[in-house]
Amino acid sequence: MAKRTIVSMPGDGIGRVVLESTIRVLDAAGFEADYVEGDIGWEFWCKEGNPLPERTIKLIKKHKIGLFGAITSKPKDEAFDELAPELKEKNLVYSSPIVGLRQHFGLDICARPCKTYKGNPLNFIRRGQGDAIVEPAVDVVIFRQNTEGLYGGVEWSNPPTEVHEMLMTHPKFKKNFGHVAKEEVSVSTRIFTKNATERILTAAFEHAKKYGYKSVTVCEKPNVIRETSGMMYKMAQQLQAEKYPEIQLWNTNIDAQMMWLTKNPENYGVIVAGNMFGDIVSDGFAGLIGGLGFACSAQINPETGIGVFEPTHGSAPKYADYETSIVNPIAMIESACMMLDFIEETERAKAIRKAVAEVIEEGKVRSYDMMKMAGRQDVISKGAATTDEVADAVIAKLK
Ligand code: NAI
Ligand code: MG
Repeated sequence: MAKRTIVSMPGDGIGRVVLESTIRVLDAAGFEADYVEGDIGWEFWCKEGNPLPERTIKLIKKHKIGLFGAITSKPKDEAFDELAPELKEKNLVYSSPIVGLRQHFGLDICARPCKTYKGNPLNFIRRGQGDAIVEPAVDVVIFRQNTEGLYGGVEWSNPPTEVHEMLMTHPKFKKNFGHVAKEEVSVSTRIFTKNATERILTAAFEHAKKYGYKSVTVCEKPNVIRETSGMMYKMAQQLQAEKYPEIQLWNTNIDAQMMWLTKNPENYGVIVAGNMFGDIVSDGFAGLIGGLGFACSAQINPETGIGVFEPTHGSAPKYADYETSIVNPIAMIESACMMLDFIEETERAKAIRKAVAEVIEEGKVRSYDMMKMAGRQDVISKGAATTDEVADAVIAKLK
């Protein structure tokens, strides 16, 4: 097979160190690739007025696969203050380069697996019968619609007159909000389309089928949010009946799901949700398996074969300038495994996951989060492993 070219996008803060460690692990697993660096993040906003330069988009278009570290985002005023002086007159507005990538390449399928590693001291435990301590084994993959819904960006404060007039045509708006001055109204829309909904549902069912999960749970709120959540559930029922009769379809409300998270997380398999509820439920499950140091994700477009793989954590600026990095690279390493699965290098992905599992279970090399320490520079002198040491331990298991 021809050697792959991967677009590596370290971004900001700890993005670079976790990505560098991960590439070392990929090399050790025998994955042969060339890496070209794609510029993205705060630095390019400040210098060029664009955190997602056109040249980076071109690289991804050409090579299709991106490994992404993390970026820093800051509020509007700070974003303006840090802009290079010559750019300040240009009326530039900062927008998240990750959201930009999703929209540009239609990366509407976001997958976030949360699987318990045996021996991870951060695993969730609860009390069972007779006060026994129970450690449920979680094995859940959340499919989050990545481009629409509440994060679609269609929103107004003090909406334009025509929008307000249109809202007034809805009896419930008129009854409940009609007496409120237009200037005092803010509206964020939650738009679902049939095409995108079908795509995320199909991705969820296909994943369940391919990896033998017995159920797909639609996690929304169709009893209250009737039009959007209702549409998703109805489409799921149809899809399941027509194409996936062997997979059970479950239906939970997001609020109840967050409660059941601690009660019976081991019962769930594949979960599918819109943009915001998918974001919430995936963070919830990630908390059960060790939190941000373990939470990985894939954002893909199955038709074009374009995919960007990234940990769900951010740039953790407070750790970015440490002389020796202390953050956990596992979320990034796991994200790279999702990349390997996507490009059908599944044996290598399996080998890396096995190596990570062995390191965790052995428990000799643990980053500060696994040691349950507060993140500070002195954690290394107290026995926590550095970012590089965790990666080295994984590499040693691969040999
Ligand atoms: P964050 O995820 O960067 O950090 C929150 C805390 O989680 C850290 O202080 C640290 O205690 C822990 N943490 C994060 N990654 C870790 C790792 N690999 N190992 C061990 N501990 C880890 O979120 P925060 O502080 O809210 O945001 C920092 C910046 O990152 C902001 O500018 C934010 O906009 C951006 N951000 C970017 C994301 C992305 O690139 N996808 C996602 C979330 C936030
Ligand atoms: Mg989130």
